[in-house]
Amino acid sequence: MRFLGPVVAFLSAVSLVSAAPVSERTPDVDQDLPDGLPYPSPSELTLVEQNAHGTLPNTSPPPVISNKGITNLQLIAFNELFEVAFFNELITNITDNVEGYRFSDADDKSLVLASLKAILAQEELHAIRANSALSHFHVNPIEPCQYYFPVKDFDSALGLASKFTDVVLGTLQDTIERFALGHDFDLAREIASVVANEGEQQGWFRMQQGKIPSELPFLTTGDLNFAFTAIQSFTYPGSCPNINEIPLRTFESLEIVTPPSAKSQNLTFSFQDNSNETNQLWMTYINQQNLPIVRNLSYVSHTGNTITAEALFPYDDHELNGLTIAAVTKKDGPFADANEVAKWTLAGPGLIIVN
Ligand SMILES: *[C@@H]1O[C@H](CO)[C@@H](O)[C@H](O)[C@H]1NC(C)=O
Ligand SMILES: *[C@@H]1O[C@H](CO)[C@@H](O)[C@H](O)[C@H]1NC(C)=O
Ligand SMILES: *[C@@H]1O[C@H](CO)[C@@H](O)[C@H](O)[C@H]1NC(C)=O
Ligand SMILES: *[C@@H]1O[C@H](CO)[C@@H](O)[C@H](O)[C@H]1NC(C)=O
Repeated sequence: MRFLGPVVAFLSAVSLVSAAPVSERTPDVDQDLPDGLPYPSPSELTLVEQNAHGTLPNTSPPPVISNKGITNLQLIAFNELFEVAFFNELITNITDNVEGYRFSDADDKSLVLASLKAILAQEELHAIRANSALSHFHVNPIEPCQYYFPVKDFDSALGLASKFTDVVLGTLQDTIERFALGHDFDLAREIASVVANEGEQQGWFRMQQGKIPSELPFLTTGDLNFAFTAIQSFTYPGSCPNINEIPLRTFESLEIVTPPSAKSQNLTFSFQDNSNETNQLWMTYINQQNLPIVRNLSYVSHTGNTITAEALFPYDDHELNGLTIAAVTKKDGPFADANEVAKWTLAGPGLIIVN
């Protein structure tokens, strides 16, 4: 069950390519992570640090950590390993002049590659740091999966990078709050430094798409469980060796059939309801640092366990720019925050980026 859900959601949220059902896919040839990850040798680590323009922190994690804190580190490692695989493949595609990844200007290409190589190495250090903190706390490090990326050219790859980086930027807010709740104050500062690094990356991804670099005054928040579900849409079912050690929920998939533009409009959604417990469902949107917005969901069709439904995307009333996380909820709220939304979510996250 864990591996089946959300592939379709992310594919069409990104609205890029059509793909075979996940069960029919097989990994591309050799998907080893670069530089000996997840367990680089000392010399490989030195090389990664040079490429990252900086080092792993040389301070030790604190002696104790809360259970919530462990889950944070597991999710961070799970995410960072996925990002390493993505940026490594993107760099390979550009370097090998794969169709769709060719640059006409050699200077452009060399700046793009230099930027991506630093980003890759920085993500490698984030992954190594999270996993070595887990080891320090006598918890198994997270092992990489086999990944699949629904992109076929540089523009769609950057669009996807922007989307998952936005999810990460919201999720790291949640990890900082969970560290705070678990009294893991020693870990909060370092995560804040990573948030800023990811934000710098995002500014550059946005510029590459012809957008202004800074997306929102207060970036959209998230919940660990949404990120956990979203990342799994890029993995082959059954390919994540110890994902079952991460105590987070995987939701049903949610597809945004009609990606919105910058105006209020009715959107069509498609999702699974395997529970049959629920007779009424709502569409809930998380945007910026505002209270979640709940809208009626009207059913268009119900075939087997697949529901197609419509809900208003109230852009004009709420200035819904940047990332909006959409979730089909079993309650009409009011929800105090993103964590409350996740508690009542059936299907999600649907990822919308406007402007
Ligand atoms: C790399 O290129 C291949 C072939 O077009 C494509 O299938 C894959 O999704 C690309 N990966 C990335 C990260 O751009
Ligand atoms: C959305 O659909 C409802 C019900 O069909 C309709 O009353 C409303 O005007 C629509 N809103 C927009 C912005 O299109
Ligand atoms: C939402 O649905 C409820 C119950 O069916 C109804 O009372 C309410 O008017 C609807 N709200 C909107 C904005 O359509
Ligand atoms: C849920 O309900 C639908 C429609 O009534 C039905 O086709 C499906 O078999 C049910 N699924 C389960 C798991 O009961």
